[in-house]
Amino acid sequence: MPSKILVFTALVVFVNGYNDYEIRRPPADTGRNVMQLIKRNGYPFENHTVQTKDGYILEVHRIPHGRNTIGNDTRPPVLLVAGYFCGSADWVNFGPENSLGFILADEGYDVWLANYRGTRWSRKHAWLDPDVDRKEYWTFSFQQIGQYDVPAFIDYILSQTNQEKLFYIGHSQGTTSFFALTSEEPEYNKKVRLSIALSPVAYAGHMKSALAHLFAIFEDQIAESLEKNQRYEVFPHNPRLALIGRLFCQDGAATQDLCGLVFYAFAGYSNYLNKTMIPVIATNTPAGSSMVQALHYGQLLKSKKFRKYDYGEDKNLEIYGQSTPPDYDLRKITTPIAMYYGDKDPFTSKEDADRLASEVLHVAVRKIIDGYSHLDTMWGIGAQQLIFKDIIELMKQY
Ligand SMILES: *[C@@H]1O[C@H](CO)[C@@H](O)[C@H](O)[C@H]1NC(C)=O
Ligand SMILES: *[C@@H]1O[C@H](CO)[C@@H](O)[C@H](O)[C@H]1NC(C)=O
Ligand SMILES: *[C@@H]1O[C@H](CO)[C@@H](O)[C@H](O)[C@H]1NC(C)=O
Repeated sequence: MPSKILVFTALVVFVNGYNDYEIRRPPADTGRNVMQLIKRNGYPFENHTVQTKDGYILEVHRIPHGRNTIGNDTRPPVLLVAGYFCGSADWVNFGPENSLGFILADEGYDVWLANYRGTRWSRKHAWLDPDVDRKEYWTFSFQQIGQYDVPAFIDYILSQTNQEKLFYIGHSQGTTSFFALTSEEPEYNKKVRLSIALSPVAYAGHMKSALAHLFAIFEDQIAESLEKNQRYEVFPHNPRLALIGRLFCQDGAATQDLCGLVFYAFAGYSNYLNKTMIPVIATNTPAGSSMVQALHYGQLLKSKKFRKYDYGEDKNLEIYGQSTPPDYDLRKITTPIAMYYGDKDPFTSKEDADRLASEVLHVAVRKIIDGYSHLDTMWGIGAQQLIFKDIIELMKQY
């Protein structure tokens, strides 16, 4: 093992140049997990556990108040739900000035950061073992996250804070699961003051991402091979990635652009990626997830419908009582929705976002940001000015 590390280090130093590597330092938050990110930046951290009706044990991380302020239980709660492969750390990894989680805490909100099923801190279950009962544990998508995880978080937070309503902020799949919940269980609309949808996804028929198209085209083959090899879990949290991120992706590293390319391959190209932050991002992200989630998005792309998971005719009949999966009815969503997305987003296309906006009852705001890609609504250079400031102003009105 040590010799491997030595060779690896020599390679990095060789590729990046000894001097550059010595002089530059990755950002201080490199290597910090969510608790350390929150505490070391001067915020209070609380760790809460919630169990869903179907037995998943989930962590939700709380920043009860901002820096240099005392707790105040009149603070309005806000629940943040990140996208595919992301979790609580992704809202607090850009420092106090540029992370939405910190900005909200400093603005007087009681901030709750969700970790949905299967991700690093929520890879637990009351009776299933994710490493043994693989098919049962990992067969889920935004559908189950919306049906079980999101309502469990909402009800838990409302009971802990003695409030009747909260704010919801989702990114990507965090928006899809919100739409899945509130179109199926309209009473949850009453528990949410305002839902802020960053890079929202419901309809997906016009997704431009090559990756999404691959999932749509090879859905059957992928599903078959999953059944055979049981490798449902993809990109679990990996501490080695943090090291790779630190060595190859920090400022001054000759390989930093290569890291950018890996990033773009998954998330789509962006002009607004803050490359300095790749080592911090890679410390916690990807947080792990299920392949079934990608298959479900592939199905949405192919069918051009926003509907439940397609298990195949026989199983659909058994589960849904019909041979095709039922559609979600977006017209049942009465919560005001604020949409923010970029015009260069390969996952949130103009056509799909238009259709979503035309079906939900109440679009509070719709802002399309020039040049922004999928992750830029959370991490993009300038997001603080272009999006977060707007959100804070908007929230004051609800
Ligand atoms: C939260 O608490 C659980 C249970 O005690 C623990 O296993 C987990 O590591 C904690 N999470 C964090 C982020 O510290
Ligand atoms: C608690 O919040 C209310 C409403 O935002 C504010 O008026 C009050 O000053 C706060 N109290 C403390 C101790 O922070
Ligand atoms: C990248 O993010 C860090 C941390 O938020 C920030 O200090 C820096 O100014 C950002 N870089 C650019 C080019 O915006």
